[in-house]
Amino acid sequence: MINHDTIDNIISTARIEEVIGDFVTLRRRGVNQIGLCPFHNEKTPSFTVSPAKGIYKCFGCGKAGNSVNFIMEHEHFSYPEALKYLARKYNIEVEEEEQTPEQILELNEKESLYNLNLFAQKFFTLTLSETEEGKAIGLSYFRERGIREEVIHKFQLGFSPDKWDAFSEFAIQQGYKKDFLLKTGLSLEKDNRLYDRFHSRVIFPIHSASGRVIGFGGRILGSDKNRPKYVNSPESDIYNKSKTLYGIYFAKNAIISKDNCLLVEGYTDVISMHQAGIENVVASSGTSLTQDQVRMIQRYTSNISILYDGDPAGIKASFRGIDMIVEQGMNVKIVLFPDGEDPDSFARQHHPSEVGSFIDENAVNFILFKTRLLLGETQNDPIKKAALIKEIVNTIALIPDGISRSLYVRECSSLMTIPEQVLMNELNKILRGKLKKNLPGLEKELEQIPSDQITAEPQIDFDPDSAEYQEKDVIRLLLLYGQDVIRIKLISSEEEDVPVNVADYVVHDITHDEMGFENVIFKSIFSEYVKGVENDAIPDRNWFLSHSNHAVSTMAVNLVFSPYELSENWLKNNIMVTSEETRLHMHVMLALHAFKARKLDKMISETRKKLSSATIREEQDALMKTFHELKKQSIRINKEGLGRIITH
Ligand code: GTP
Ligand code: MN
Repeated sequence: MINHDTIDNIISTARIEEVIGDFVTLRRRGVNQIGLCPFHNEKTPSFTVSPAKGIYKCFGCGKAGNSVNFIMEHEHFSYPEALKYLARKYNIEVEEEEQTPEQILELNEKESLYNLNLFAQKFFTLTLSETEEGKAIGLSYFRERGIREEVIHKFQLGFSPDKWDAFSEFAIQQGYKKDFLLKTGLSLEKDNRLYDRFHSRVIFPIHSASGRVIGFGGRILGSDKNRPKYVNSPESDIYNKSKTLYGIYFAKNAIISKDNCLLVEGYTDVISMHQAGIENVVASSGTSLTQDQVRMIQRYTSNISILYDGDPAGIKASFRGIDMIVEQGMNVKIVLFPDGEDPDSFARQHHPSEVGSFIDENAVNFILFKTRLLLGETQNDPIKKAALIKEIVNTIALIPDGISRSLYVRECSSLMTIPEQVLMNELNKILRGKLKKNLPGLEKELEQIPSDQITAEPQIDFDPDSAEYQEKDVIRLLLLYGQDVIRIKLISSEEEDVPVNVADYVVHDITHDEMGFENVIFKSIFSEYVKGVENDAIPDRNWFLSHSNHAVSTMAVNLVFSPYELSENWLKNNIMVTSEETRLHMHVMLALHAFKARKLDKMISETRKKLSSATIREEQDALMKTFHELKKQSIRINKEGLGRIITH
């Protein structure tokens, strides 16, 4: 048990932004810092850290807490494990209270596996550097490969003796349990005897992002065709292959500062690169990256360069896997090494400075790389070329960002000497298809609405609990004018008016204020606009008029043909209208204003109701706070009126 003073000391010393900064790239925003949430997949940061308050909160997934909670959650540590981790980070001596035998037994299983791995790592390391066998066989192997002493030390490389059970026997002698020897996979059992999994191999310990040994790779010394070149630890409670990248612990700072992650295949590639002074490098251990591994890299950078040894067939086979990385919003580059060379052999045969410049000079964007490689194979065969267009556009369509997509369309069209418009049409086809597929889960709910309830008759009621009319007006606006352009001008900016689509503007305005729709039909239509705006493919009116969902199409028809155009009438009577565009602009502003004002009124009245029935003090306080917040917001919106954006 860690004593109370130590706990207090740890908690008051740990700085949340430093603790989290080891895992998440944070940027300052006002008094807070923000970054991509490590607990769920997101492309725009909603993970917020408050250094002043010592807490974090993700507004996307809701995870929140202090430094200790973060480490527990992120590293899957127990409470004492997290405290010890922080103590190590801040050089705080941990004073533990005497443990009873029961408490020792309770030391949870994971911690035992970590302990055993640490013990094994030390055993292998010492065998390598201190024993005759280790020095003669293991150390000379590493030397032959040109790996320097300090790099061996840094990566904690080791050697496992030739004797079948040297490690297992020693571990048992030292009081480690057989159960854990088997669970970590350090030992194998046969006929009631323990054998060393790694015997007679050089050892590469595998570290977690926070530097704990979670597994091992062991390589045979020569090239014996009958034995696998490498064996690796099996999966365990502390080692999940698909969530591990070899070298991440040694690479993460360099990845952040270089804003790029180099991906290689093997242990020795990582080590040789470090030796050449290139530290932003991790290995996938011979397989293609998993989503979890990509997310791990994404915490530090959105740029990844994949280093290949020159074998086109192997690269083509990995295209699909790379598509997945593109889809996650990463910028992927390919670096092709000269035939027969991998990063390890290249680094050994060249001066360190040449390695870096080779990578810089030869990194080619993945999409352009793929285009060139496949183009070389079509040899002007028109059928093959058509297939190529599809193939390339499919990859471009995966890029989440619309601007990047357009840039690639331009570059690829010139590479393939195909008009941009041809690629664009193909791209839009795919994007539209995706939009259809991504229909939100509202489908079922929609099906259950009886058709006589689908009406566009304006029911102007003065019940502040209903925002139905305002919701409807916004949706009508989207359907009628979603693709039309208005000019907006931000108050704070001196810049010219900027043209935006009505749909773009409405979607951003409503989502920015974190408001939404209640009516499921409106909600569904709106969410299609949100998707459309995200993908630069704003759906047109006809899409909804002939929508596959009956409730949606009926509502769209009713809205579009509805004779009631209240705000437009209001405009006609009250404002000297100069141009169609100004009129549309005013219409949009009015509808949004009414929508938000009504939503706020509704929230205020709901809070008031809850407040009157709340009995617990804490609940009352919280509700009062919400109430005041909402009031403030309501006053702001009413004051702003139409003024947040100035019209011409
Ligand atoms: P060297 O031959 O020592 O240079 O190793 P390397 O790291 O370059 O190996 P290679 O490029 O052949 O393979 C890349 C990665 O795939 C290795 O680092 C291992 O993680 C994995 N790997 C290679 N061979 C085997 C094997 O026989 N069994 C297993 N399980 N993994 C292997
Ligand atoms: Mn190699």
